[in-house]
Amino acid sequence: MIRLSMETDRDIRILNLTDPQLTAGEWEKGNRTGDAFRYTVGTLIERVRPDLITVSGDLSYAGDYVSYRNYADYFDDLGIPWTCCFGNHDNQGGDEPVRRVLDEFMKRKTFVFEKCDPALGNSNFVILIEKNGKAAEGIILMDTHDRIPYKADMCGKNEAWAGLTPEQLAWYRDRIAELKEAGCRDSTLIIHTPIYAYIEAAGAAFVNPVPEKGEPDYGFAGWNPGYEDSFGFYHEIISAYPEDEGAFELIHRLGSTGNVISGHDHMNNWAVRYRGVRLIFGTKTGIGSYGESAINGGTVLTVDENGVKDVRHEYVDLDGLR
Ligand SMILES: [Fe+2]
Repeated sequence: MIRLSMETDRDIRILNLTDPQLTAGEWEKGNRTGDAFRYTVGTLIERVRPDLITVSGDLSYAGDYVSYRNYADYFDDLGIPWTCCFGNHDNQGGDEPVRRVLDEFMKRKTFVFEKCDPALGNSNFVILIEKNGKAAEGIILMDTHDRIPYKADMCGKNEAWAGLTPEQLAWYRDRIAELKEAGCRDSTLIIHTPIYAYIEAAGAAFVNPVPEKGEPDYGFAGWNPGYEDSFGFYHEIISAYPEDEGAFELIHRLGSTGNVISGHDHMNNWAVRYRGVRLIFGTKTGIGSYGESAINGGTVLTVDENGVKDVRHEYVDLDGLR
């Protein structure tokens, strides 16, 4: 467990970015995709003044080392502590390219990371944020891998998006115990591919949920009773592993994690409090890969001595980018 100590009278602000998916060529000056990323992050930093930046995966594509090195340079130049978990595109070349990327990232002074048991993936670790000496928030980052074989065709040739494994859930349980021992009662889980409960939460919260199969219905008819504090857009079928991996029941039972942030679905950024746990799609950062101009920016967690007290999306209008 990494301890990040902050001495401050104000609330701590964590800025989550997700799915920027820049290739090496897109970092070049004058490339609109790279310019949009830098403009978006620069605007967010000016507005939010974050104490920590998290990236919930899919920074680039496995093997595109130039792009990953550019991320390392870019974040290092910002001078703000930053961290990430890896997404399916980061992981799509297997473990070796990710470890090479990590070797590069870990040379940088602002990168906050702890290597974990490789049997669980490449990005499972915990950052304990201490505010004025008090354990305030546990940030748990976990690796949701790439794809796995599946009986039906979910995202390729008889494959589904992978999720958290039973071994990772056992690891999560132990980390929550460790956080409680350290006096930390609140935690946030940051992953790339959403857990299965996102599908249940959307079904419960949206008056007209997007069907599990077929074309999404872009109409929004409101929130069901009890879910009026939800917010964000639902413009894409949820790409979770299609069966319940048991993550939510564990999260719910252990009672520590109040917020889960995932990425992966670029056109979803809804946040729904489901059975006491807020399940959130982070707002996509930039225009790499695919997306929607109205959903660009990041997600902000405000943290005080007792943990997360507020979650919001910050949108960046790219009309300001020349
Ligand atoms: Fe993804």
